[in-house]
Amino acid sequence: MTSGGLLHERGWIEGSSEWYTPPHVFDALAIAFDLDPAAPPGGVPWIPARKHYALADNGLARPWHGRVWLNPPYGRETSRWLRRLVEHGDGIALVFARSDTAWFHELAPTATGLCFVAGRLRFVPGDGRPDASTAGAPSLLMAYGSACANALANSDLGLYMPGPDTEPSAEHQSAACSLASPCVCAGHLTCCPAHTQV
Ligand SMILES: C[S@@+](CC[C@H](N)C(=O)[O-])C[C@H]1O[C@@H](n2cnc3c(N)ncnc32)[C@H](O)[C@@H]1O
Repeated sequence: MTSGGLLHERGWIEGSSEWYTPPHVFDALAIAFDLDPAAPPGGVPWIPARKHYALADNGLARPWHGRVWLNPPYGRETSRWLRRLVEHGDGIALVFARSDTAWFHELAPTATGLCFVAGRLRFVPGDGRPDASTAGAPSLLMAYGSACANALANSDLGLYMPGPDTEPSAEHQSAACSLASPCVCAGHLTCCPAHTQV
């Protein structure tokens, strides 16, 4: 089995994190970020973040500010970066939807909202090659804070679910949920008075 997808995921596990989030993800999120704390030197040009940290800065050791975009180095490192985002409380993380891992069971329930990405993302290689590579696993976006959760809910990237401890916001109950088509509560019936009557 030598598909690009499998090699892609193995590349991360073996230590290469130089695969970048495709631009259409940011078009769909329609939200700007203050910080990308895990970035290549110079940042990724299409990522709408005002500031970035690269490996030489060690983004985990630096202060985080504002709204954070996080596509962390994968493998064993993922959970350390995610815990930092949980602590920070404002941002979106893009990770593999690995529901068989310890970090998923520990951290997915802490999110304000989750979006299970439809299909497979094609990540952009950092070595300048023009071809993107299909990820070897499905992707998950985890949002912290209501602005980021709303960005996931209103994107067309996949299945949105509010975090288990998230109270439905007034906005979610009325403007977003009652008339939106397709409904942003994605069948989560108890979150939406309009839909409990369906
Ligand atoms: C999966 S890529 C994501 C890049 C970009 N943020 C994105 O969304 O496309 C992870 C990036 O984190 C960088 N990185 C690895 N360790 C880091 C560290 N300790 N501090 C900051 N950046 C780091 C890697 O060099 C790589 O560019």
